[in-house]
Amino acid sequence: MSVQAPVRRITAPEIATRKGGEAIVSLTAYHAHTAAIADPYVDFLLVGDSLGMVMHGMENTLGVPLDLMIMHGRAVVRGASRALIVVDMPFGSYEESPSQAFRNAARVMKETGCGAIKLEGGARMAETINYLSERGIPVMAHIGLTPQSINVLGGFKTQGRTKDTWALIEADAKAVADAGAFSVVLEALAEPLAARVTKQIEIPTIGIGASSACDGQILVMEDMLGLSSRVPKFVKEFGAVGSAIESAIKSYAEEVKSREFPGPEHTYAMKDT
Ligand code: KIV
Repeated sequence: MSVQAPVRRITAPEIATRKGGEAIVSLTAYHAHTAAIADPYVDFLLVGDSLGMVMHGMENTLGVPLDLMIMHGRAVVRGASRALIVVDMPFGSYEESPSQAFRNAARVMKETGCGAIKLEGGARMAETINYLSERGIPVMAHIGLTPQSINVLGGFKTQGRTKDTWALIEADAKAVADAGAFSVVLEALAEPLAARVTKQIEIPTIGIGASSACDGQILVMEDMLGLSSRVPKFVKEFGAVGSAIESAIKSYAEEVKSREFPGPEHTYAMKDT
């Protein structure tokens, strides 16, 4: 009799030890099926609040409710058995106080089974990051372009284009690292600044539109698959899944119209794909 050893999940502390080592690979995931496909190839999967825009057609991420994050978080945890699963805290669920953040983050961890949460903000969130980390909740921070602050930032723009803006962003990176975050997403940071920040802090930096100077990269899965209708300029498309879906649906529609339905010889028994 052979007994298969259960697959062990990657943990937040393991991601933290990857500073300066092999590049950390990550993608967003919102469902069980795409999580299962990505699982063998990524170190962590982020259930990003970008799901509001990508999956639910919202204009921005501000309207995403906590319950929706939990529902998608559960699906991703069910789909992937190896990658660390990180769930985003949505706008309004953590900014008020460390105790509000703890209450909601503990709910996310209990109800999804994820291994860490992510929240947006630098120095202003340091107290909260410390509060959560000290109470058993691993925190990934997110600085630079923080989409939940879009109304303050005035749009989806590269951060740190001019040197006079660097000090604040560097201070944010240092503050979240000192507060106990196990890694930090750098979104839309100009390359020289991403390189400086990556050198200055001891936790891994995960870039999105922030260059290969970072310790790893995350992309929105639907963007790199060619499935999104609007994609940031820095995203390389690794597939043409949108057009593959369209041509499959077109063929299906043509078959149905020509009445080529499966006959009674077909049963509901499952076939392996
Ligand atoms: O919500 C999200 O998908 C994110 C990534 C873009 C980092 O925060």
